[in-house]
This record gives sequence, C-alpha cells and structure tokens, in this order.
Amino acid sequence: MKYFLDSAKLDEIKEAYATFGIDGVTTNPRHIMNSGKPFLRAIQDIADWIKEEGLDGYEKFPVSVEIDPHLDDADEMVAAARKISAISSNFVIKIPSTLAGVTAARRLEKEGIRTNVTLVFSPAQALLPAKNGSLFVSPFIGWKESNGEDCKQYIQDIVTIYKNYGFYGKTQIICAAVRTGKQFVDCAVAGADIVTAGLEVYKDSIKHPYTRQGMETFQNAWDNTAKE
Ligand code: E4P
Repeated sequence: MKYFLDSAKLDEIKEAYATFGIDGVTTNPRHIMNSGKPFLRAIQDIADWIKEEGLDGYEKFPVSVEIDPHLDDADEMVAAARKISAISSNFVIKIPSTLAGVTAARRLEKEGIRTNVTLVFSPAQALLPAKNGSLFVSPFIGWKESNGEDCKQYIQDIVTIYKNYGFYGKTQIICAAVRTGKQFVDCAVAGADIVTAGLEVYKDSIKHPYTRQGMETFQNAWDNTAKE
C-alpha cells in the first residue's frame, strides 16, 4: 500500500519524504490555505522541490491539486484543470464527484490529463470514475468515521467492485482523510492501493506503548550487563 502525504506544506512534504519515503502528495484548498502561501506559489514550490529531487512525472511522484471548488460547469472545470496541469507533469487534477465533475474528469482523461475524483462517500460514486478512466478515486474514510460510520465494509465494497470489473489497480483507490492506525489497517486488509494522511497520523501509526516499555526493559538489562 502506498503512502501519500495529505498536506501542502513544503517542510512537511520534505520531512515525510525523508522519513517515510512517501510515494506522493494530496492537497486540497484547506491544505493550500494552511500552507500560508497564495495558491499558485504553494503548488509551484512543491513542483520545484520535485524537480530538485529528480522525481518528475506523476508516475514517479503524483501530487493531487484541486481545482477551484466553486466551479460547477464541466467546461470551466476542464479549463481550470488544463491551467494547473500545465505547471507540472506531476500534477493530478482533483475533481469533485459531482455530475459536472465526472463529466470534466472523463474529458480530461481523454486528453491525457490525469484526474483524482474526490469527495467520494459511497461505492456508487467510486464506480463512475473507474469506468471513465480516472487515475485515482478518493473515498474519504476519516470524515465518514467521524460521522459514526464504520468504513471497513465501505472500502471492501469498492475493492470488490473494482476487482469484479477489471478496474482494480487501473483506477487506484486512495483512502483519504485517514486519521488512525486502525484505519491504516482496515485500508490495507481491504486491499486499498493508497492511503493519504497528515504527517502526525503517520508518526502516531508507528507508536505502541509496548515498544516504549520494551525499550526501557532492554535499556535496564543493557545497563546491568558487563560489556567485556
Ligand atoms: C484527500 O485527498 C483530502 O485532501 C483529505 O483527506 C481531506 O481531508 P482532511 O483535510 O480533513 O484530512
């Protein structure tokens, strides 16, 4: 399962790449706002860092960038996507799962601009982007679970549907807004292609109280053992 960082902060992206070897980045308008930079500056800085690292191309290191979320007309969405896509070959365009959105995503994929259909909350919403050839689909796990919905079956259903019709691996499933270690495991057991989460979520996912306790036990043993 690939790990993407859900952030537009360059320092976090660099840290996550150095520490966890993240496989890509997802951004959204809220992450761009939280970067403290203007939209174009924020995405250009990410594109420049990718070049420095020699990670050019969405196949090597995809970065999802969302179009203006006010747009609800397929022509306008396509025009906005083309502009963002022209900035970097790493950019995959995030398009909402609305009627205009899936229409725009279908057109963009036909002209070679890769898309990530986002704000997906049901298996039915996940099916159409796959039929239309989107590179990614983003079912939001954390938001649903915050709403009291268990997502294990939800992810499993999307994986099963994709396997049934030969979409599995072609349209890659990004479990988005992952917040806990349990959610990582649920996504991995179901066979999701990718998870995307914030840096702190990754850091927390490798913590366990027994690991700390075990370190203390072994440190005590070490200290009480002659070295020669
Ligand atoms: C995913 O691609 C989204 O950017 C993200 O997961 C949205 O959720 P969050 O910002 O609440 O984590």
